[in-house]
Amino acid sequence: MSRIPLPYNPKVMDLFRNPKNLGKMDDATVVAVAGNPACGDMITFYLKINDQEVIEKASFESYGCAANIATSSIVTEMIKGMTLEAAWKDITWKKVTEEIGGLPSVKFHCGVLAVGALKRAIRQYYAQRGVEAPAWLSKEHTFEEKQALEEEELARTLSKRMKPEAER
Ligand code: FES
Repeated sequence: MSRIPLPYNPKVMDLFRNPKNLGKMDDATVVAVAGNPACGDMITFYLKINDQEVIEKASFESYGCAANIATSSIVTEMIKGMTLEAAWKDITWKKVTEEIGGLPSVKFHCGVLAVGALKRAIRQYYAQRGVEAPAWLSKEHTFEEKQALEEEELARTLSKRMKPEAER
């Protein structure tokens, strides 16, 4: 069976081939994961955050597709130097998709997952410090966080179904 290649634009292809800020960060302040290893679509975000709550650097590891790698890469560039509040408010999957020059619609969710991991990391930053979250950090999950949760749930269900009955 032959597969038709997806119509990725040159910017996506370039970032897929030469991603920026790829790799583990040993001195990260916060690490967050989104996706599920069972289906291969998994992304980890590392953020180094200073006392003024500014993101000094960001990196990622991804086992997702070209769209996921490219969007994750561009997110790490967009948020560098931003406060957590600005990153929380300004970085949405739509903005990231625009920044990258568009994605095929079947690949929108890959960018959503990247932004979901970022939002999770920001939420986790306050949770792990044990301080009260600021007012701008909505208690309710953002669209991107909800989507990440849905994908994880779906992946768990699928991997259970694929296991032999004895292992379930
Ligand atoms: S990250 Fe799963 S298809 Fe792109």
